[in-house]
Amino acid sequence: MAKVLILSGAGISAESGISTFRDSGGLWEEYDVSVVCNYDSMQKHEELTIEFYDKRRAELESKEPNYAHKVIADLKRRYGRDIVVITQNVDNLFEKAGLKSSDIIHLHGFLREIRCQDPYCEQIFDIGYTKQREFNGGGCPSCGSKLRPNIVFFGEQAPKYEELGRHVQDCELLVVIGTSGNVIGVNTMAQFATRSILNNYEPSSAINDAYFSKVLYKKATEAVDEIAEEIESFLDSINSLKKL
Ligand code: APR
Ligand code: ZN
Repeated sequence: MAKVLILSGAGISAESGISTFRDSGGLWEEYDVSVVCNYDSMQKHEELTIEFYDKRRAELESKEPNYAHKVIADLKRRYGRDIVVITQNVDNLFEKAGLKSSDIIHLHGFLREIRCQDPYCEQIFDIGYTKQREFNGGGCPSCGSKLRPNIVFFGEQAPKYEELGRHVQDCELLVVIGTSGNVIGVNTMAQFATRSILNNYEPSSAINDAYFSKVLYKKATEAVDEIAEEIESFLDSINSLKKL
C-alpha cells in the first residue's frame, strides 16, 4: 500500500472554474441536493436529475486542469505506487493532467460515465461530454434497462470507501486538499497518519485543523509546491534508507 495518500475535494478544481458544493455560490446553493443527488432522485425526479448531470458533464469539456492537478499528476508519475491519489471529485481534471484511470480513485463516481440501473447488470459506459438520453436511446445496450449517472448519491453505498479505509491505515503521510470534510471524516484520518498536511482556502467547521501537522489556508495552486516538496523529501528519505 502507498506511503503517501493525497485526498482531494472540490476545492482543488475550483481554480479550473468548477463550482465547489458548500462555498458561497456553490452547487448546493443553486440546486436542491435532495432533488438531484439523493438515493431516490432517479425515482422521484428523474428528468431534473439527468438534466443536472448532463449540464455538469457538458461543462467539463472546456475545463482544464490547474497547476495543482498537474503537480500531483507529475508526483504520481514519478513515485508510482508510493503515492495513492484519491478524490471525491467526479470531474476528469486529473485525467486531463495525465493520470491514467488506474492511477486515481474516484470515491463518488465519475461524471463522464453512466451506468445500468439493473443490479444484475450495472454496466458502465463512458459517454464523454454528451447527454445521457443520446446514448443508445437511453437504454442499456446489454439488457435494455434504464441508465443513470455513475455518481454516488447521498444515502447510497460508496463502494470505494473500503479501499479508502485501507489506504488510510497504511499511509504515513496524509495530504488533504480542498475539502470541507463534511462527507469524509478527515479528522479521524489525520489521527492515523504519522504526518498530515491540510490545504484549504479557509478553515472549515467540519475540520479540526489541530489534528494536522501542517495547515495551509491558501489556494491549492499556491500551496501545492510546498506540499510537493514535503512529499518528495519524505519519499526520497524512505527510498534512500531502503538502498542501505
Ligand atoms: N484551493 C484550496 N481549497 C479550496 C479552494 C482553492 N482554490 N477553493 C475552495 N476550497 C476549499 C473550501 O475552503 C472548502 O473547504 O474547498 C472546500 C470545498 O468544500 P465542499 O464544497 O464541501 O466540497 P467537498 O468537500 O469536496 O464536498 C465533499 O460532498 O456534496 C458532496 O459528493 C459531493 O464529493 C462531494 C462531497
Ligand atoms: Zn444493463
